[in-house]
Amino acid sequence: MPESTDDFYRIQKLPPYVFAVINEMRAKARAAQIDVIDLGMGNPDGATPRVIVNKMVEAARNAKNHRYSQSRGIPKLREEITKRYRANYGVELDPDKEAIVTIGAKDALAHLLFATIGPDDAVVSPNPAYPIHQYGVIMAEGHACMLPMPDAATFLNRLEDLYRTSTRKPKMLLISFPHNPTTTCVDLDFFRQIIRLAQEHGTMVVHDFAYADLCFDGYKAPSILQVEGAKEVAVEIFSMSKSYNMAGWRVGFCLGNSKMIAALARIKSYLDYGVFQPIQIASIIALRECEEDTRKICAMYQKRRDALVTGLRRAGWPVTPTQGTMFLWAPLPERFRPMGSLEFSKLLLEKALVAVSPGIGFGPMGESHVRFALVENEQRIRQATRAIGGFLKSSH
Ligand SMILES: Cc1ncc(COP(=O)(O)O)c(C=O)c1O
Repeated sequence: MPESTDDFYRIQKLPPYVFAVINEMRAKARAAQIDVIDLGMGNPDGATPRVIVNKMVEAARNAKNHRYSQSRGIPKLREEITKRYRANYGVELDPDKEAIVTIGAKDALAHLLFATIGPDDAVVSPNPAYPIHQYGVIMAEGHACMLPMPDAATFLNRLEDLYRTSTRKPKMLLISFPHNPTTTCVDLDFFRQIIRLAQEHGTMVVHDFAYADLCFDGYKAPSILQVEGAKEVAVEIFSMSKSYNMAGWRVGFCLGNSKMIAALARIKSYLDYGVFQPIQIASIIALRECEEDTRKICAMYQKRRDALVTGLRRAGWPVTPTQGTMFLWAPLPERFRPMGSLEFSKLLLEKALVAVSPGIGFGPMGESHVRFALVENEQRIRQATRAIGGFLKSSH
C-alpha cells in the first residue's frame, strides 16, 4: 500500500484543490462564530421550485421508482429535453440517439473524455477554465492544451494559429460559453467558426452549456447545436443545476453527435444505473413547467450582479459587469497584483471577511484575477462591498 494517496498513479496527477485553502480558512472563521460572506463557490443558494420538489416526493412514494433506472435516462425525460431544444433554439434532436441523461454536467464531461480520449490525444480548451475541463483530460491520459482567452476573438485566433502550425492536431475542442470563470460570452458566429475549423480538421467539439440560461441585459446565449451541421462533430452538455436551482439533484444531458453519445452511453452502462427515477420524473416537470422560475432565477442574479458591481466601484475597485453566468471576474486591484490571487484572497477573507475564489485555482492564466460568485443576497453583497471598501482604504 502506498504511504500517501499521492503515490497512486492517477491521484499524483491531481494537485490538491487550490480552493481548499480558502474553504478551510472560512470554516475556521465560522467555527469561531465569525460571520464570513461567502462569494467563493458557485453553489446556488436558492430553493428548487416547489412543483419540482412536490413531483419528486410523489414519485418517491411509488415503489416502482425505487428500482434501478436506465443508465441513459428514461425516454420521457430525453423527449422533454429535445422539446426544450426545439422551442428555445430551433434545434431538432432524436431523443434515442442524440440525447442522454447524465448525473450532472460533471459526469457527462468526465466520462465523455474517458470514453473518447486516449494517451496523448490533444484536447484544446481556453484557460482559465472550470477545473474538470483540464483535469478530466489529464485523468483520461490526454494532453490538455490550454490557450489563453483574454477574449473570445483572441482565443479563436490562437486556435487558428495552432491548427496552422502544430504537428499534433487537436482531437477535441472543449469550450463553454457563457464561460466560468471569465464570464466571456459569444455569439452564434463564434460557434460557426469553431464548427468550421472542427469539420475541416476532423476534431470533436464539446460545448459545456452549464450557464445556458443565466444571461443578462437582453443577451441570449446561443446553443452550439444551432450551427448548421454542428451535430456532425459536436455535442452540447446542458445542466439542470443553475437553470432550475437543482445543483444537488445531479441531472444533466449530453446532446448532439450520435457517435459521441453512443460512446458515453456505453461507458455509463458499465458505471452507473442512471439518476434515481423520481429525480428524473421531477426533471420532466422542471423542463415542461418552470420556464418562469428560470427567468426569476436569472433576474435575481442580475440584481446581485448590479449590487456587486456598484459596490465594488464605489469601493474604488473598477470592474466590468458580467453579461452571463453567476460570477464576476475581477482583476486584482493594481497594487495587490504582485502578491498573486491566492494571497490576495486570503487577505480579503482575513481583513474584510469576504470569501472569493482565487483565479489561480482555474489555471495559470487566471492568476491576475479573483472570482466572485453571486450566491448571497443583495443586502449581504452590499455588506461585502462595504467591508472590501474599508479594507482597500486601510491598506493604502
Ligand atoms: C462550466 C461548468 N460546467 C459544469 C458545472 C457543473 O455542473 P453540474 O452541477 O451539472 O455537474 C459547473 C459548475 O459550477 C460549471 O461551472
